[in-house]
Amino acid sequence: MKSISDYQPGTDLLHERIILVTGASSGIGAAAAKAFAAHGATVIMLARSVPKLEAIYDEIINAGHPQPAIYPMDLEGATYAHYEELATTLEKEFGRLDGLLHNAAMFGSLMMLEQHDLGLWAKTLQVNLTAPFLLSRACLPLMRLSEDASVIFTSSAVAHHGKAYWGAYGVSKAGADNLMQIMADELENNTPIRVNSIDPGAVATQMRRKVYPGEDPRSLPKPETIMATYLYLMGPDSKGETGHIFTIDKQKIPQPAKE
Ligand SMILES: NC(=O)c1ccc[n+]([C@@H]2O[C@H](COP(=O)([O-])OP(=O)(O)OC[C@H]3O[C@@H](n4cnc5c(N)ncnc54)[C@H](OP(=O)(O)O)[C@@H]3O)[C@@H](O)[C@H]2O)c1
Repeated sequence: MKSISDYQPGTDLLHERIILVTGASSGIGAAAAKAFAAHGATVIMLARSVPKLEAIYDEIINAGHPQPAIYPMDLEGATYAHYEELATTLEKEFGRLDGLLHNAAMFGSLMMLEQHDLGLWAKTLQVNLTAPFLLSRACLPLMRLSEDASVIFTSSAVAHHGKAYWGAYGVSKAGADNLMQIMADELENNTPIRVNSIDPGAVATQMRRKVYPGEDPRSLPKPETIMATYLYLMGPDSKGETGHIFTIDKQKIPQPAKE
């Protein structure tokens, strides 16, 4: 595992890059969409909630950043034809894809394997693992048209070592890291496409609140404070980095204010 320290992204780091962000309607994905746009990228924002995506769209426009695009999609129900349709639309509108952040995920619930809800198991693996595979497969031809494309998967502490009760979520995140490594290995010698994962650590989002309802969110970093690693991996400064899981060095980000 790796981490970066003291990275200062240039303001034009992602100038004219076309970047697709899944789960851009809230939490880390919304922060990443805004950070990428603030550094010059045209961001395509994918999630289910159109009102939430529209609110992020308005924030980006009001800040004077490049006009983003909204692509509403439910990763749970999407078939491969939907991913092909998305790739065709991106090719028609933008001609290539320079970045892909696989960030959308569902948590499900903490439960023992013996009692694991079977439907929830299938749904969680579909959204957190199969969807990033299908989206990567459909978008790879478009990423080959980019001079410097970057794919980022989203890992988790429970991916690195199996932990009781984390069931489908833990398995899906471990699988996503393995998928990242396979993709990085397959692409390393014949394309400039780099593929890495980020484990964001504990961050104050809706998902974190669902998992730890008793925790004070003010004790956790906000999504916008962990963006340096996302910007580093999405931009040209990370050329040559591939196949790694990055963790966030929490010492290097602004600490939440103590009451
Ligand atoms: N927060 C943490 O402490 C933490 C720690 C480790 C890893 N992570 C990972 O970080 C990533 C972001 O999570 P977050 O904490 O920012 O959670 P969040 O605020 O709940 O965001 C999850 C995003 O995923 C989207 N999503 C969920 N199901 C979807 C579906 N079926 N189709 C399309 N989009 C879907 C949601 O949008 P809609 O509801 O609009 O569809 C939302 O934009 C996840 O991969 C998570 O596993 C988070």
